[in-house]
Amino acid sequence: MASEAEIKIGQVDDVQELHRAGLETVPDRYIRDGDDRPGGDNVCALAHIPVIDVGELTRDDELNKLRLACEEWGFFQVVNHGIEDELLDEMEKLAREFFMLPLEEKEKYPMAPGGIQGYGHAFVFSEDQKLDWCNMLALGVEPAFIRQPKLWPTTPAKFKETLEKYSVEIRGLCRRLLAHIAETLGLAPGTFGDLFGEAVQAVRMNFYPPCPRPELVLGLSAHSDGSAVTVLQQDMSCAGLQVIKDGAWVPVHPIPHALVINLGDSLEASEIDSPWFLSGAAMGIRAWLTDQQALAAHARAQVLTNGRYRSVEHRAVTNSEQDRLSVVTFYAPAYDVELGPLPEFVTDEAPCRYRRFNHGEYSRHYVTRRLEGKKTLEFAKINQITTAAPEELCSCK
Ligand code: OGA
Ligand code: NI
Repeated sequence: MASEAEIKIGQVDDVQELHRAGLETVPDRYIRDGDDRPGGDNVCALAHIPVIDVGELTRDDELNKLRLACEEWGFFQVVNHGIEDELLDEMEKLAREFFMLPLEEKEKYPMAPGGIQGYGHAFVFSEDQKLDWCNMLALGVEPAFIRQPKLWPTTPAKFKETLEKYSVEIRGLCRRLLAHIAETLGLAPGTFGDLFGEAVQAVRMNFYPPCPRPELVLGLSAHSDGSAVTVLQQDMSCAGLQVIKDGAWVPVHPIPHALVINLGDSLEASEIDSPWFLSGAAMGIRAWLTDQQALAAHARAQVLTNGRYRSVEHRAVTNSEQDRLSVVTFYAPAYDVELGPLPEFVTDEAPCRYRRFNHGEYSRHYVTRRLEGKKTLEFAKINQITTAAPEELCSCK
């Protein structure tokens, strides 16, 4: 990883300030190449991501709906999720108040070039890189050692205590959802909770001011999340988040007090014909299940030929009228959890496709690259690595 001093990111304007200045054109660094622009005929405005009632997940039909949502979309909204509306409203209000502060105030919590925590533009690593039409405040939350307390805003008052409370609730929701997701795979509900160890939790608040030429820019480049699950709270102003489905971008329409959930790279099931057990979900399980449990899970998993879950690409678009705010929580395995395919399931016909790595390594890799679709997940695939012999990389030998 390049040190901060080596990273030259050039002039990065604050997009809220550009908007405040009444700018009618968009600086070149924000203008996307043709294919990468949000307009065009590959937006499918009529489709909707599934809506899951968390309170009903003890029922088979709702659990089945969740399974289908994971299989077919990798994205869904949750209602009846148990988090109080008032807390969601308060978090949104305080986040918005923070972004409305004068720039000098926000710059008291600066994101270092190439860094990921604080206020600024994340994922900027070079002078010629296209920029997103977005301001961000990103903070590590759990475990305590990833926190950078100096970057937690002291204004607005109550920001910190509300974020603490909010994060506890969201963490509980992530655990509940992962328990249900495990069930949809025929695994014991505690499987992911156990294997993730002391899960990593980070929050990113994204603020998208109106843009004079929304058809030329992206609010957030297409990417998949480096988490296991992501919980996104969005304001009611307008649809800005878009999810890829069958090659088309589907907008996620806000539902009052619903939360948008998506599966991240840690839960990815990858190669089309590989056994499910070589999937990302299984890579995590490797570290914690006894062989017997693993064999039982594998036996079930093989039946679930379509039971492969994917981390799905998404992006954010802007518009010329309204700003938009999202509060996004990333929940991922502990950094030291070792991931790698199970030796029992690697054969000549099904060669080992993933090298052994831990989430910390993956996370470092993820945050030191610009957002670019699902390229970061290539990291885990053995055929991308040419310098080391497979047996050095793979946990299967
Ligand atoms: C993210 C993300 C989308 C949005 O922060 O990873 O996908 O609508 N955000 O803000
Ligand atoms: Ni995302």
